[in-house]
This record gives sequence, C-alpha cells and structure tokens, in this order.
Amino acid sequence: MRRTLRFIFRGQTVERDGFDPTLTLLEWLREEQRATGTKEGCNEGDCGACTVVLARLREGRLRYEPVNACILLLGQVDGAEVLTVEDLSAGGTLHPIQQAMVVHHGSQCGFCTPGIVMSLFAAYHEAERPLTRAAFDDILSGNLCRCTGYRPIADAALAALRGPAADAFANEPELRRTRLEVLQEGSDLFIGHEARFFAAPASIETMASLALRHPDATLLAGGTDVGLWITKKLQDLGKIIWLGRVKGLDRIEESDALLTFGATVTHERALHSLASLDPDLDRLMRRFGSRQVRASGTLGGNIANGSPIGDLAPALIALDASVEMRKGGLSRTMPLENFFLAYGRQAREPGEVVTALHIPKLKPGMAFRAFKISKRFDEDISAVMGAFRFRLEDGRIAEARLAYGGMAGTPARARATEQALEGVSLSDTHGWATALSNLEADFQPISDMRASAGYRAKVARAVLGKALLEIAGAAAETRIHPRGEVAHAG
Ligand SMILES: Cc1cc2nc3c(=O)[nH]c(=O)nc-3n(C[C@H](O)[C@H](O)[C@H](O)COP(=O)(O)OP(=O)(O)OC[C@H]3O[C@@H](n4cnc5c(N)ncnc54)[C@H](O)[C@@H]3O)c2cc1C
Ligand code: FES
Ligand code: FES
Repeated sequence: MRRTLRFIFRGQTVERDGFDPTLTLLEWLREEQRATGTKEGCNEGDCGACTVVLARLREGRLRYEPVNACILLLGQVDGAEVLTVEDLSAGGTLHPIQQAMVVHHGSQCGFCTPGIVMSLFAAYHEAERPLTRAAFDDILSGNLCRCTGYRPIADAALAALRGPAADAFANEPELRRTRLEVLQEGSDLFIGHEARFFAAPASIETMASLALRHPDATLLAGGTDVGLWITKKLQDLGKIIWLGRVKGLDRIEESDALLTFGATVTHERALHSLASLDPDLDRLMRRFGSRQVRASGTLGGNIANGSPIGDLAPALIALDASVEMRKGGLSRTMPLENFFLAYGRQAREPGEVVTALHIPKLKPGMAFRAFKISKRFDEDISAVMGAFRFRLEDGRIAEARLAYGGMAGTPARARATEQALEGVSLSDTHGWATALSNLEADFQPISDMRASAGYRAKVARAVLGKALLEIAGAAAETRIHPRGEVAHAG
C-alpha cells in the first residue's frame, strides 16, 4: 500500500500525503504553488481558463491531454506530469504556440490566454498536420475568449501547427517517458484515514473490496460531474475512491459482434471505436462537452450518474447495450435500459461499481441514427437526445428501438411508437406519421431552462421523422452538415 501521491511538476517528482481529498488541482497550483499563470474563471469546467496539460503514459505512448484543473482533484494526477503555461518557454524563448499568439495578436486582456495556449500546446503534440480550421474549432471547443475573438487565435494555431512538433518537449520524449515509467507501479494508493481519505486502488479486486467496505464513499472516475459537486454545490466529500488507476477498467475490446469498454475509458479514447459503429456516434461524441471534458470524463461516469439528459445512455440503449457491475466478489450484467429506475435512482447497489459496457455492433439490415438537440454545437447539454436503431426486412421496419434523453426522468424507450412502427413499409410516409403520433403516449416531457415541454415533444417527433426520411432515402437533404461529414477533427 502506498501512502503518498506521486507526480511530476516542474521536472521534479512531487510526493504528497496529508492533503484534503477534495483539494482541486487548481487550488493546489494557485494557492500552494503560487502558479498563478493558470486562471480561475467559471470553476465548473466550462470556460477553459484553468486548462493545464497532463502528460500520461497510455498503452505505452506518451500523451498530452488538456484538462480543466478546476474540477480535477489533486489525487487524480497520480502517475502523471502536470504541465502549466509556466513550463512552456525555455531559456527566455517563447514556445512556438506562444510566439504565434504574439505574432497573430491572439490575446487582448489575456485572461483566457494561458488556457488557450495550453489547449493548443496539447494539440501541438497530438493533432494531425496540417491543422484544419474544423480541427481548430474542435481543439478550442472548451476555451472561451471574451474579447479577442477567435480568428486571430485560429491564425496563430494554423501557423504554429503547420509542421511537426519541434519544441523542447519533442526533443526529449525519452526523458519524460522514463520519468513517468518510474511512477507506474501496481500498488494501491490510500491517503488519509478510514473516516476521510483519497484512495486509488490498483486492481479490480482491491477496488471492489474497498467499495464494499465503504459503500458511503464517492466513486470518482473523471470528476467532470463530481468536481462540480465540490466547487459548485460545496459538498464535503469525505471519502473518495478514484477508479483511474484500476488495471483493466480502462480496456477497449472488440470482437466481431461486440465492442466492450471498461468503465474508465475516457470519451476521447472511446471516440474512434464508437465512431466505427456509425457516423452519427462520431458526431455525437465530437459534440460531447469539449476536448478537456472528453479527456477526463468517462463512459462509466456518464452512465452511473443516471442523468436523464446524459448523451450516451439513449445512444447505447438504442444499440441494446448492457452494463456490467461488480460488488465484492460478484459480477452481474444487465440490459442498460433496466439500469435507470427513476429520476435519480439506478439499479446500482451501495458498494457496487460499474465495470464495463458491452455494445452490440450493427448487423446487416440495421440502420442507426442519433440526434443531439442543444442550443450550442459544443460544450452543451442536450435538451433532447434521440437515438434509433431499425432492423429492416424487405423494405419494412421489422424492429425499432427508439431511445430518448430529456423526455422523462430517465433515459427511456418509446415503446408505443416502436410497436406502431413495426411492420410499416419504409415507403409509407403516411404510415410513419400515424405511428409517430404515439410519442404523445410514450412521453409527457417537462418544461425547464433548457426547453419547454412543447418544444421537446415537437423536436422528439421531428428527429424521428428525419431518421426515417433518411433511411428511406425519401429526402435528398436533411442536415446542414451531411451525415458523416463532420468527422472527429484532429
Ligand atoms: C463543461 C461540461 C460539459 C459537459 N458536457 C456533457 C455533454 O455534452 N454530454 C453529457 O452527457 N454530459 C456532459 N457533461 C457531464 C459529464 O462530463 C459526463 O457525465 C461524464 O461522462 C461523467 O464522467 P466522469 O468520469 O467525469 O464521472 P465522475 O464525475 O467521476 O462521476 C459521475 C458519477 O458517476 C459515479 N461513477 C463514476 N464512475 C463510476 C463507476 N465506474 N461505477 C459506479 N459509479 C461511478 C460517480 O460516483 C458520480 O456519481 C459535461 C460536464 C461538464 C463539466
Ligand atoms: S475555471 Fe472555467 S473551466 Fe476551469
Ligand atoms: S483575451 Fe480577453 S478573454 Fe480572451
């Protein structure tokens, strides 16, 4: 059992014990290290002013991941190198990203600039060349600039990311890798005492027994929900079990029929595999939060939080996915749709941990569509999310699985509409219209700050109609960006 947190900062290995489990990385940087180049704006993961980069070893590769330090707990940096804007210039020479921001006038008041520089720095090491404008938009989806405007920042990024990375970091990857390798070891981490702790078990077995011993502990994966409980709801979470070090929980496996994701696979890592199932999943995942949110947030966290407006649940229910859980020595698997019992209530027992999601691939004769309806393209939660899988036989709908988010207290299927659509010919547009009116029986949505009940009802019907129009080939154009066009950029 290890009793100290270990990570790299300013080229040195930091060893910390005795810190409060809820201490955020941003608080540690600004208040303990006086590393005030990293700014605090919203303190809820939206504005990107606090963006720092974590260098991590993923499948043996050195990766640079932009994260929001405001909602990341200090304990989550175990085994990583923390890079902030102060790390970039070398010997008085600006980093190529910083230099390009100067040349292209990418900064006015400068408040957003460190965060933007760090997002671009991560892209400097990760993005495909040459950078496209679409890729830039994606890279900057989690950074808000209130005064400069994005055009000069885009100019700076496009100029700096023309050729391959050629900074001090690119010159010494072996040094960084070796330093990180030393920190990767397989013992459990436990800091604190039985009544108040930050724990990071290293195996599924030790995770399961710790969760069973402390069913009142908060399970923490990426922290993109839990972080806000601390910074916005001011909750005092005394016991935290971080799942980010559990070996095997971050696996991605593929067979002919199935994709399996361990619960701690991040949205960014899952993106390519999910995109291979259907182009609409590519688009959906690209619109999930921002680069920073996708780098930290996990598939398991998005399901376990039980949100009625989470984006993954409707898509995965439509695909007939199942969820695997572990409690002590026992594992069980259930259809994902049965996991959501009522608003705020899931079929997960105290001490039980979501370990994996199993997603059947589409079979020949199946068609899938997913639509996220939100006010902004990026960094926005859905008002309505509709995901549909159809099995087609001889030009008829043999089976329909229609799942919605934002229409009820849980993600849910539109069973009456499913039944009404079965057997309907794809060429029978009147038949669909009649079947679609069953949505009124399936859902009684509510009005809230995201949308009115009336809007939700209309849009739920419209997206299903659009899916059918597309699948039947009954309309040449149904989208501003044709399906599959907005691929994951960079
Ligand atoms: C700026 C911003 C934008 C966002 N945009 C979107 C969006 O576009 N779409 C969307 O759906 N969501 C969005 N979210 C919400 C959030 O990012 C997702 O729900 C994310 O997937 C949560 O995953 P996480 O790993 O960060 O979960 P955490 O915050 O670590 O945990 C979330 C919940 O799940 C529990 N939990 C986590 N892992 C497990 C597990 N393995 N077993 C059991 N319980 C577990 C935790 O105890 C907690 O209750 C956004 C959040 C922010 C801050
Ligand atoms: S301060 Fe706004 S994202 Fe962290
Ligand atoms: S330069 Fe002022 S907010 Fe971006």
